Amino acid sequence: MSFSARLLDWYDRSARALPWRIAPGSGAVPDPYRVWLAEVMLQQTTVAAVAGYFPRFTQRWPTVADLAAAEEAEVMAAWAGLGYYARARNLLACARAVVADHGGRFPDSEAGLRALPGIGDYTAAAVAAIAFGRPAVVVDANIERVIARHRHIETPLPAAKRAIRAALAPLVPDARPGDFAQALMDLGATVCTPRAPACDRCPIAADCRALGRADVERLPVKPPKKAKPRRHGIAHWIERDGAIWLVRRPGRGMLGGMRALPGGEWTDAPPAETERSESEIVRVDHGFTHFDLTLALVRGEMADAAAEGEWWPISDLDAAGLPTLYRKLVVRMLERDT
Ligand code: ADE
Repeated sequence: MSFSARLLDWYDRSARALPWRIAPGSGAVPDPYRVWLAEVMLQQTTVAAVAGYFPRFTQRWPTVADLAAAEEAEVMAAWAGLGYYARARNLLACARAVVADHGGRFPDSEAGLRALPGIGDYTAAAVAAIAFGRPAVVVDANIERVIARHRHIETPLPAAKRAIRAALAPLVPDARPGDFAQALMDLGATVCTPRAPACDRCPIAADCRALGRADVERLPVKPPKKAKPRRHGIAHWIERDGAIWLVRRPGRGMLGGMRALPGGEWTDAPPAETERSESEIVRVDHGFTHFDLTLALVRGEMADAAAEGEWWPISDLDAAGLPTLYRKLVVRMLERDT
């Protein structure tokens, strides 16, 4: 059997049931809006994390027109906790472009999708394949691993991407390209895992070159990890009548456009020792992609606050849509009070 036939046969038996997915063989037609939404959410975010958010989004905004009509602040708050917040702003910009420029229907080609705001090469290929049955070459981290191993590609990432794409392109079938892509994703997530892969359950093990050379776990070769710098910041807890003062972070930059506790710039040097020890209530460490942040919470006065902001009832903080960094800080603060 061909590579794609073995893979699709495995997918028919083993596909994960995921909220945005149409089960193989169900005959249902995928909704491009749901496919696109899921693929944007899944960039840089785990399937487990997205599984909670996706149904909430689609219940609240069942169509692209509903989403396009939403307020940006609502979408940002609903996205809170998913990270990489520029995606949420681009999500809304894309929904609005689909409605304004395409009559509410997503373009059905890779090039047409690629021209929309916030849709990069990966998302364009994934949506073209999954929603529109186009034989696009879809490459995410799981697929990279499967192909690097099957072809025994030893070039380190990211340079290996070219060879991986070149190896994958001729394998993409004209029939069921969306299931083919998702089969590779599922294989990477459940069988061809980074550590301890289950090669005995793999439908494409027979001609896997890495397995033949007993060299599976080493691949794909990762570039050496850069040490992450640590940055430091202070956030202010300004409380009055059971409410705290929240601000909105500037549109550009880290956590752009998200609600936050007021505070200064994050700096490479820790804050002066006196400032820290006298007034610090709690602190959290939080990992971003390119740096780790230590954020200390201090009691603040209104004079510390930006003029723009709002009093938010402490009892209703869940609804504020705080990103994880600030949510952790608030939780720690409130635990300490009780
Ligand atoms: N990761 C990214 N897109 C996915 C999909 N459609 N199914 C499973 N995992 C994914």
